[in-house]
Amino acid sequence: MLEKISFAAKEIDVAEWKGDILAVGVIEKDMAKDENSKFRNSVLKKIDGLLGGLLAEASSEEDFTGKAGQSTVLRLPGLGSKRVGLIGLGKSASFPASFRRLGEAVAAAAKNVQAESVAVVLASSEGLSHESKLSAASAIASGMVLGVHEDKRYKSESKKPQLKSVDILGLGTGPELEKKLKYAEDVSSAIIFGRELVNSPANVLTPAALAAEASKIASLYSDVLSANILTAEQCKELKMGSYLGVAAASANPPHFIHLCYKPPNGSIKAKLALVGKGLTFDSGGYNIKTGSGCSIDIMKTDMGGSAAVLGAAKALGQIKPPGVEVHFIVASCENMISGTGMRPGDIITASNGKTIEVNNTDAEGRLTLADALVYACNQGVDKVVDLATLTGACIVALGPSIAGVFTPSDDLAKEVFEASEVSGEKFWRMPLEVSYWESMKSGVADMVNTGSRQGGAITAALFLKQACQSLYILLPAFVDEKVQWMHIDLAGPVWNDKKRVATGFGITTLVEWVLKNSS
Ligand code: BES
Ligand code: MN
Ligand code: ZN
Repeated sequence: MLEKISFAAKEIDVAEWKGDILAVGVIEKDMAKDENSKFRNSVLKKIDGLLGGLLAEASSEEDFTGKAGQSTVLRLPGLGSKRVGLIGLGKSASFPASFRRLGEAVAAAAKNVQAESVAVVLASSEGLSHESKLSAASAIASGMVLGVHEDKRYKSESKKPQLKSVDILGLGTGPELEKKLKYAEDVSSAIIFGRELVNSPANVLTPAALAAEASKIASLYSDVLSANILTAEQCKELKMGSYLGVAAASANPPHFIHLCYKPPNGSIKAKLALVGKGLTFDSGGYNIKTGSGCSIDIMKTDMGGSAAVLGAAKALGQIKPPGVEVHFIVASCENMISGTGMRPGDIITASNGKTIEVNNTDAEGRLTLADALVYACNQGVDKVVDLATLTGACIVALGPSIAGVFTPSDDLAKEVFEASEVSGEKFWRMPLEVSYWESMKSGVADMVNTGSRQGGAITAALFLKQACQSLYILLPAFVDEKVQWMHIDLAGPVWNDKKRVATGFGITTLVEWVLKNSS
């Protein structure tokens, strides 16, 4: 469903550019005028000169001061461009968020006036280093692709976006920049794919449909990706009692998804696994989600972790990084209610032999992840990152736009946080407080699946990993000690509550992290 926009980096004068909108990104300082009320900034001065002072006049009439979030599009005669847009970046531009927002604002302006061709230029780009110019250009491009995209698959009628070409002016030209733009497009198309998976309702995106989407990606990039989809019977042979317990009530059978990325050639330096929670719907089971705030109406988003993982697979299938092997693993199923379903109090056995007393059927994500993590560690990987819409408690702790990070490994934390600086996605490290394991003890089984309400995001993470060596006998060992492991709870940022659409959260950071591990 991706409308292709073609991007080109050019070093031509703004006066010579012809098209529908010439958009200028300005910081507040760029709006300063001299004693004759003329712009001091050279780019604005030049445009204003060609317009006989109309830009200065119109922008002050519109109270445009360059504040972040401000934008104005003016229809002015006298230029090769039909319109001039001014987009505020605030006091100073921050990487990459300001430039992504610039791209989104230009996309919105283009939609408004049905523009086919736009150019984007920064009023002051002279001060930027070569590196900064590259990342500004790619952030603008991804902001535009994502800003233009609208998920119209389930709308009966809709306007098509007209935007066909975008020229990025003044940020350089040449193969290095072209490569960066290509990268931005690869990641953006993967984010759109991920968003569409999450937006898809549970009556369309069943576990089988999710597995089919995964297989489709593998066959699209079959030079580097392969797929293995396990049926319920195969999972039973692998003794995945924890995962299959969750799946037991559903008329839609579970599908265990395993994609593997191998570089086109050369040796492999690092082996990684990305594990995503893939509940295509979470009713809560017998502990059904009731009452306001339980969010049952958006529980189609409970496969947001798997969307991040499969989105990353799509991006990496296009980028084809060397020196790294990546496993993408999703134990997909539905958490429903029926006579064949798991009851509160049932005891199930995970594929590592641990027994779990299910004291709450709504804490199902960790049950599916337990078997997925055991499977991931059996792939002989060095590092495992799991992503899951795991707890409402994490949303209470960090709000709607920040994901919780849990890991005993400072090294892995450093890698992922560095990746998040490039992506601009927000993460916050949380403690794996071992003493909280107390509430996860069962009288009859090795553990229960739900601890006390307090610190719910932490006990969920503790369920996935023993936090401390000294307590390893008491704690479950779902994660092999030799592997570095991280759990990311993205229950908040997966969904944009205001726009009521998916965000595609996690994909950019995962791709950056995998590239860090490639050679
Ligand atoms: N999928 C939910 C978590 C969730 C809640 C995601 C709201 C997005 C928005 C998860 O399976 C769940 O139900 N968690 C319970 C755990 C509890 C029973 C220990 C929760 O957070 O309430
Ligand atoms: Mn649940
Ligand atoms: Zn869930």
